[in-house]
Amino acid sequence: MTIADYLKQRADHLTQAGRRIKDFQVFDFNYMPEQPLMREEVKPIIDACLRYLSTGIANHVFIFGSRGSGKTLTVKHLGRLLAQQHQAEVLYANCRQHNTSFKILAHLLGVRPRGCSLDELWHRFTEAHSGRLLLILDEVDLISEKDRNKDILYLIGRSPRNYMTILLSNHPKFLNTLDESVRSSLQTELIHFRNYDAQEIMRILKDRALLGLKDMPDETMAKIAALTTRATNSDVRVAIKTLYYAALEESGDIEDFFNRARRDLITDILADLSDRNLMILKAVANIQEPFVKAVYEEYRRLSIQEHEEPFSYVYFYANLSYLQSIGLLVLVATKVGRTYTNRIQALFDAEMLRAIWGMRFGTAGSEVHGLTGTHS
Ligand SMILES: Nc1ncnc2c1ncn2[C@@H]1O[C@H](COP(=O)(O)OP(=O)(O)OP(=O)(O)O)[C@@H](O)[C@H]1O
Ligand SMILES: [Mg+2]
Repeated sequence: MTIADYLKQRADHLTQAGRRIKDFQVFDFNYMPEQPLMREEVKPIIDACLRYLSTGIANHVFIFGSRGSGKTLTVKHLGRLLAQQHQAEVLYANCRQHNTSFKILAHLLGVRPRGCSLDELWHRFTEAHSGRLLLILDEVDLISEKDRNKDILYLIGRSPRNYMTILLSNHPKFLNTLDESVRSSLQTELIHFRNYDAQEIMRILKDRALLGLKDMPDETMAKIAALTTRATNSDVRVAIKTLYYAALEESGDIEDFFNRARRDLITDILADLSDRNLMILKAVANIQEPFVKAVYEEYRRLSIQEHEEPFSYVYFYANLSYLQSIGLLVLVATKVGRTYTNRIQALFDAEMLRAIWGMRFGTAGSEVHGLTGTHS
């Protein structure tokens, strides 16, 4: 086959796929459906917002849940409704993009983040927003370590303006990392977004297919939904991407599309991880019987080897929950003798981890004890 042949073949293939897809937009992760699937957990958020809008007394909310459990979409959608129907003032900032208090405020004010102090920015912000304000801080755990005291939360908690915040995160223990004074001034209500079940994922897929595809068999979508709940912690992004791959290709094995979608997304997640979390995963991959205690010991060893201060056991454990919530591992209670202990099951590809580890730390870490490659 010549290069020209291949080019033609792929171009034809894409034209064919284009005929099966009505609207590519619905497969974009930032696409906002007109009517997202309802979930019970929205109710207390709506109640808190309405209470705030009528009383002016802030009722801060902290929403946590796994990756792709609909936190961002749900809260943005609600923000829109409150703005349209209740004339609420709603602002949104993503702390991954704006990762210090200073940058968040500069972004919200639409100014360049330089040339003045945080106090000045805060002053300008309060001047600009004298009434009730709902402030959504998405991925709030990604505020940088440099912003040690998470000043923006402190300022909001102490301000006579009584703004209300909605904080979103995958990190169930994020509030515990805050200074006690910040935590007590915010008095946050906790809301957990549980993982979607297969039926809910199926409904989300059906909605997308209705808008975006010419036709898609229900069995295919049911299979995608089942795989997503079974193998990813119910990350709807993986389901949507699998649906997209299934629509692009005329035939093929759904499980292959699913694995491809999962791999695409996991590479992004791994590349985004902090060094310490990457080390935890490396420890999981290095240990043949990854029970939590043994993994902790291996993690400590790796940390010392890489001259990193290891987490205490308690923090290590909190980070395991976090890694579980972003779909990289699951903790499985396993009976050993008479008691149950947690065994870690890796959901990432060992090869992929090795590649990212190599880029981050060089290859030294992958040769420890000659254990590498004995398991995945
Ligand atoms: N209830 C829903 N109805 C329709 N689509 C949904 C729903 N929940 C999630 N989705 C879709 O799933 C994808 C992931 O949702 P979203 O970005 O809100 O997850 P998240 O909980 O914010 O994840 P992360 O923790 O990674 O930020 C999005 O493309 C979103 O449109
Ligand atoms: Mg989100």
